[in-house]
Amino acid sequence: MLKLARSLSFWSKNTASWVKTQRSEVQHSLCSEVLILQAWRSDKRHFCVGAAAMSRPKVLITRADIPQKALDMLNEKCEVDMWPESFPIPREQMLKKIQGKDAIFCLLTEKIDTEVLNAAGSSLKVIGTMSVGYDHLSLEEIKKRGIKVGYTPGVLTDATAELTVALLLATSRRLFEAHGELLNGGWGKCAWSPLWMTGWGLAGSTVGILGLGRIGQGVMQRLQGFGIKRFLYSGRSRRPEEEEKGAEFVPFDTLLKESDFIAVTCALNDQTRDIFNEEAFSKMKKSAIIVNTSRGGVIKQDALITALKTGQIRAAGLDVMTPEPLPPDHELTKLPNCTLIPHIGSAETTTREGMATLTASNIIAGLEDQPMPARLC
Ligand code: NDP
Ligand code: DGY
Repeated sequence: MLKLARSLSFWSKNTASWVKTQRSEVQHSLCSEVLILQAWRSDKRHFCVGAAAMSRPKVLITRADIPQKALDMLNEKCEVDMWPESFPIPREQMLKKIQGKDAIFCLLTEKIDTEVLNAAGSSLKVIGTMSVGYDHLSLEEIKKRGIKVGYTPGVLTDATAELTVALLLATSRRLFEAHGELLNGGWGKCAWSPLWMTGWGLAGSTVGILGLGRIGQGVMQRLQGFGIKRFLYSGRSRRPEEEEKGAEFVPFDTLLKESDFIAVTCALNDQTRDIFNEEAFSKMKKSAIIVNTSRGGVIKQDALITALKTGQIRAAGLDVMTPEPLPPDHELTKLPNCTLIPHIGSAETTTREGMATLTASNIIAGLEDQPMPARLC
């Protein structure tokens, strides 16, 4: 990679002294901290060879508790500036710290928009997000500036699909409510009452999946053993391989009307934002259960709360919601037919390490002008 080196000191054969030059073209790689440089001094017409310590690319990491392996990878090749806390970096700190950085290692909690990109200026070359979702990134602005983006598809599919099934079962079999009854003495009042804490089984049901992508497919694969009668799916494109496994591509309206259980595993974008609104809930079965592990914005939350309170649908299980973190006294937390967990879809130990190291690899490759293992744009 050819780069303009500023303030380069080099050794002159004739004078045996270090001379400052402001503009020399140098070839360097991220791996070498000390480079042997050749520069042509046109005034004296002789060749000079020198060595100079090159500055390493600067990377901002927006959270302290990222897996050590990923940190080691970045520390080896870059100058790392890490926000030292395990809660999200305040916006003003990010705007300040991103100045002059070559790359940012961010999480889904950081909105990377025009303001951040302007603060970063022209030095920013790579964004590595430790997530597969990228609705927190203003992609149009990023593309305009030629900044590369890496993300983490695949490494979290199993963990998130598994969690989606766990949430579906926890909601349909009322696990959290039942646990609450055990703690609050409810169990003692009714012992083993035949109708107490009864839920709704999956066998013989119709399951609808909105977004039969990597995670949606993982959910379907895991549910195959539960005796599901029909799998319906909606999305922008058909998936012939999944249809061979039994999935039926249907319009969104049909998915709403015919599903007993709906799993939301799509990406959040302009078309899917608030797609589950008043109208959608009114089309669903009164006995329907919906689980969402995509993004909170896919469900219009006020409409969901009304649907849960009025019995328009039976229950909901949410790993994602609005806002995040949800205040503990939020209306959703008061609804017995709403199972809530705090965005833990990919929270599995080896998965999180895989996500972090993939993010680090994306950043390093992007900075070295090598193909990024998982490049979004
Ligand atoms: P994929 O890209 O493999 O799948 C995304 C799915 O969304 C595709 O099936 C796609 O359908 C569908 N989709 C996109 N736009 C639309 C639209 N306008 N209408 C209908 N369907 C649409 O991504 P993943 O499966 O890897 O991840 C999916 C999402 O899950 C992520 O974007 C992220 O938000 C969320 N996620 C949440 C986690 C958690 O912790 N809760 C963990 C990991 C991911 P089509 O191909 O037809 O366009
Ligand atoms: C993602 O990757 O998009 C999740 O929300 C967190 O794993």
